[in-house]
Amino acid sequence: MTPEYSSKSSLRSSNPCFFADCIIFSAGATTAVLLFWTFSSILHPIIPSPILTNQLHHQSSSDLPTFYDDPSLSYSVSNPHPISDWDNKRRRWLRLHPSIFRQPSILMLTGSQPSPCPNPKSDHLLLRLFKNKADYCRLHSIDLFYNTALLHPSMPSFWAKIPLVRAAMIARPEIEWLWWVDSDAAITDMEFELPLRRYESHNLVVHGWPDLIYNNRSWTALNAGVLLIRNCQWSLDLLSRWARLGPQDPDYQRWGQILRAELPDKLFPDSDDQSALIYLLLREKGKWGEKIYLESEYYLEGYWAEIVGKLKGVAEMYLEMEREEKGLRRRRSEKVMVAENRKMREKWFRAEAEGGELGRQQRRRPFITHFTGCQPCSGEHNNIYSGESCYEGMVKALSFADDQVLRAYGFRHRDLLNESVVELHFDFPAVS
Ligand SMILES: *[C@@H]1O[C@H](CO)[C@@H](O)[C@H](O)[C@H]1NC(C)=O
Ligand SMILES: *[C@@H]1O[C@H](CO)[C@@H](O)[C@H](O)[C@H]1NC(C)=O
Repeated sequence: MTPEYSSKSSLRSSNPCFFADCIIFSAGATTAVLLFWTFSSILHPIIPSPILTNQLHHQSSSDLPTFYDDPSLSYSVSNPHPISDWDNKRRRWLRLHPSIFRQPSILMLTGSQPSPCPNPKSDHLLLRLFKNKADYCRLHSIDLFYNTALLHPSMPSFWAKIPLVRAAMIARPEIEWLWWVDSDAAITDMEFELPLRRYESHNLVVHGWPDLIYNNRSWTALNAGVLLIRNCQWSLDLLSRWARLGPQDPDYQRWGQILRAELPDKLFPDSDDQSALIYLLLREKGKWGEKIYLESEYYLEGYWAEIVGKLKGVAEMYLEMEREEKGLRRRRSEKVMVAENRKMREKWFRAEAEGGELGRQQRRRPFITHFTGCQPCSGEHNNIYSGESCYEGMVKALSFADDQVLRAYGFRHRDLLNESVVELHFDFPAVS
């Protein structure tokens, strides 16, 4: 099956225009409309109201039936009438709504439980984790949906994303990629962008290693806490299949046993979404394998315990780059800064790699730091970590990311563990 809408340019009917061009364009359009009315009033003595005509015009495009008018359409992942022919339905809908299909083509989905956390400190952490994602999405013109409703009563915790991703595909047919990010994951490189071109012929992207799936059969061979999934029929089918290994299925208990037998290092007896996805790759590889991209070239999600201890050194290395490269110190608007600095740093990393020098490349900012096992809301973290190291790690990673945002506003944190900020002087950090 070929992926749908892999060539984005063919669907992007409206190009973003520069502000000045937009004004000229709309001024031209207004003039044309006025001219038309002038001529038409000469031709037709009864002048139709432009407002009424506008309404008629509007009605004609939005009144045409779409898949939304089908009473059997369900947003639920476990409905008895699965959606078929989604790719064509979506295409037809897009043709009826050309103005809606423009940037962004990515929707980030994330969320947390419906009720407050037991500890107010945890709610504040969740707020900061949400702010972190909102910052990244603003910088990269990505849409963001934060969900706090349990959409399927029997699919809580790690299963909850499946009904949400499924509903979002229907609610946002203009979106090409749905990007689920767990609430306990922080974006720690605000400049990095998803290499979407690399995934053109794939429908699902997760961080993982084929060797650990097919040879080691490890339940941590991939991580399902961050995933990029294309809005297409293949994905709807995968979500339905995947959900059938979860708690809403009558065979849920049995699935837990099967997954444990399949993946010997799986720690707990219940079926979980991550083990279930690995199971589908192992047992139904022919059906799903070809369209699933296992990313390991960058931290689509990285294990926090391997990362947080290095963040201070990474921040220092980036400051060193800024001392050496005047362009990286220049004050710019926030979006220009992100785009320009990314380009400049990539050039640096490439040049160093060509020179056989990998020191800096290896100390790049990790894109996403995932606090797996920390459970920021309940505090019921895995016993191998102390609560304090999880908490401190999260604060550090969030400040590390926030410093990248605050730079464009002229500030930075005094220290990764200190909430207070200091103003950045002109040409920082060339002269201290
Ligand atoms: C995977 O399996 C190989 C060989 O069986 C072993 O040497 C390696 O340590 C395993 N890797 C992990 C991460 O468990
Ligand atoms: C943060 O830094 C300021 C200024 O150095 C200091 O007064 C304050 O105590 C620090 N806060 C913490 C939590 O370390």
